[in-house]
Amino acid sequence: MRTQVAIIGGGPSGLLTSQILHRAGIDTVVLEARSRAHVLSRIRAGVLEWGTVELLRRAGVGERMDREGFVHEGVFLSARNAQFRIDFVRQVGRPVMVYGQTEITRDLYAARDAMGGVVIDEAEGVTLHGLDGDAPWVTYVKGGTEHRIDCEMVLGCDGFHGVSRRSIPKSALSEYETVWPFGWLGVLSETPPVSDELIYANHERGFALCSMRNRNLSRYYIQCAADEPLEKWPDDAFWAELKRRIPAEAAERLVTGPSIEKSIAPLRSYVCEPMRWGRLFLAGDAAHIVPPTGAKGLNLAASDVHYLTQALIAWFRDGEAEGIDRYSERALRRVWKAERFSWWMTRILHRFPGQNPFEQRMQEAELDYLAGSAAAQTAMAENYTGLPF
Ligand code: APR
Ligand code: PHB
Repeated sequence: MRTQVAIIGGGPSGLLTSQILHRAGIDTVVLEARSRAHVLSRIRAGVLEWGTVELLRRAGVGERMDREGFVHEGVFLSARNAQFRIDFVRQVGRPVMVYGQTEITRDLYAARDAMGGVVIDEAEGVTLHGLDGDAPWVTYVKGGTEHRIDCEMVLGCDGFHGVSRRSIPKSALSEYETVWPFGWLGVLSETPPVSDELIYANHERGFALCSMRNRNLSRYYIQCAADEPLEKWPDDAFWAELKRRIPAEAAERLVTGPSIEKSIAPLRSYVCEPMRWGRLFLAGDAAHIVPPTGAKGLNLAASDVHYLTQALIAWFRDGEAEGIDRYSERALRRVWKAERFSWWMTRILHRFPGQNPFEQRMQEAELDYLAGSAAAQTAMAENYTGLPF
């Protein structure tokens, strides 16, 4: 098989890239290791920056998001000494959209199918070849047969554990990483959300977050130890702990019910540089990971996709190399700022093992400053709703 662009990974990064390139007349093949049902069963965060919303609309996949998503104009923060709301629209003139990443992936698959896009699932043993020349190729096994795709560019959109980043020689990569000393226990339940807007809570027992998917589907998280067994958290124990950590009025209102999904996620910050090696370009989780505290994971994938698709369209249409040559540098400048914001939110909202009273007071002072300063709230709102592409 021959195509212009081979895309490794059928998550949001790979599917959105393929959708935008196809609409620009560029031929792509997406290779996904897992089944489509598996990809569509993963529960991920659900807050879209306004730039992501506009990118999805421009890609022709915004219709259901605009119908079913919820525009949020602000967010609540709660701490011992400060309970307050940050009004995004007042501070920076733009809201965010709450719409689950699982739904975005579903919309992207539907759009790819409607355009006749080629997405090969259950592709085993994907291997990249000839990345340092100008005629790379990709091999994979499907149904016991080995296949080969010749192409001009390879895009590594295969997430943190994918094969693409590992295909770059170690000596050509710099990796930066922090593993946070706690995890998030997440619960999805078919209950009405406790609040119209998200609540991020700093509590002496640990962080908590109230989020939502729709009018009868709520998503809640509490900080836990990264290696805690899930069996330690039957539903009753989860709800009791969540209630202790969120504001009292919210705890009274909270409607509980059986969990329909429950999992523990570790928290990691990670960046690899550069995001290009020869004919291979990395995008999304393949190149960087953020802790979920600022909901930046999918949004960073979207900004990578924006820079990368612009660069590839200029290359294939006009033979213009400036965009692909500067892709890594452009994408990384924005990646580092989102890493900083996620790191800052993570630091001010969680309990750290061994945290001493001075450090606790520093967190409280940070939140008290945020509660009382329009300048601080503008900075928070600017980052949460998304820095410009
Ligand atoms: N070959 C083919 N596909 C692979 C391989 C491989 N060797 N390894 C992984 N994949 C697939 C995974 O099965 C997954 O479907 O690549 C896809 C990567 O998707 P994501 O992990 O969702 O990453 P990305 O598309 O960059 O999306 C970023 O999703 O992971 C969240 O928090 C993250 O919100 C962020 C967003
Ligand atoms: C979610 O809805 O799953 C969610 C929202 C905000 C976050 C993280 C996760 O910061």
